[in-house]
Amino acid sequence: MKRPEFYRAQTGQIKKDIFSWNLKIKPYEDADEQGWEGIKFNHPLPPPAGEGQDGEESAPSRSRGMNKTGGSKMIDWKELSDLVKTRRSIRRFQDRPVPEEILVKAVELATWAPNSGNQQSWRFYIVTNRELIHKMADAVKAKTELMASWPEAKQFGETVARWRKTSDFFRGAPACIAVLMGRYSSIADQILHARGEQDPVAREVHSWRDLGASCLQTVAAASTYLCLFLHYFGLGTTWMAGPIQAKREIEELLQVPPDWDFVAVIPVGYPAENPETRPRKPVQEVIKFFR
Ligand SMILES: Cc1cc2nc3c(=O)[nH]c(=O)nc-3n(C[C@H](O)[C@H](O)[C@H](O)COP(=O)(O)O)c2cc1C
Repeated sequence: MKRPEFYRAQTGQIKKDIFSWNLKIKPYEDADEQGWEGIKFNHPLPPPAGEGQDGEESAPSRSRGMNKTGGSKMIDWKELSDLVKTRRSIRRFQDRPVPEEILVKAVELATWAPNSGNQQSWRFYIVTNRELIHKMADAVKAKTELMASWPEAKQFGETVARWRKTSDFFRGAPACIAVLMGRYSSIADQILHARGEQDPVAREVHSWRDLGASCLQTVAAASTYLCLFLHYFGLGTTWMAGPIQAKREIEELLQVPPDWDFVAVIPVGYPAENPETRPRKPVQEVIKFFR
């Protein structure tokens, strides 16, 4: 049986004592397909889809699509897991248009992403006009060339050479979604702004809020959903933050209003490549329980 990538990283018994925290991982052979079986949870996981604890479920829980233990009955876990794990960043596309209704459907569902204060401070500009896509790509390429020409870039020779070849690959996509972030001022932001720079505590809190800007987290949540839903429809995407280097030029091309910021491009198209899976770190490396 072919094991998912996740398992290939997990060879043999992972000894409890190599972690400073208390995760118990079973040997490779014993773990189940989803990899959860080997991890000791304080609370049992809900049973798999369709398997309520004692058969029948109550009408109210059914109406919410949940079983008694709170597990969703709507989607099979294996299917969901396959969908997530088979999404790849796609950088070469077939010369085949993408139906607009699919793009709209995926964006509509992506707007159900969690977002800060339910402000929904996102916009998705869908560009299928070839000339416009080329102009956006030209702007990114020009900025790449400029940055590559700086003496400071010399020490990164190989990486810069690769970057010069790939930074504008989205020009080959039949559709590009420009993701815009809305400026959003929460009550905490307003308090900090009023308090000003003179108070060191206010300054520190302000810097933390800037670091984890909730408006950026908001568009990131929607972008994640979007890439996944487009993959569901058989479409390839790559989430690209790189084009922000041509922010002003792209905002001019797309006539972005002054209180919105262009932050990413998601090229979309039917894949013309089947890239290798980029491996993920074993889950025990990225989580930590405080029990
Ligand atoms: C915030 C963010 C920015 C990214 N920016 C770029 C980019 O500018 N260019 C690019 O080719 N890929 C970009 N990627 C794609 C990553 O390289 C890719 O997701 C990662 O290597 C894992 O591969 P996978 O998506 O196939 O699983 C970005 C991904 C994220 C989440």
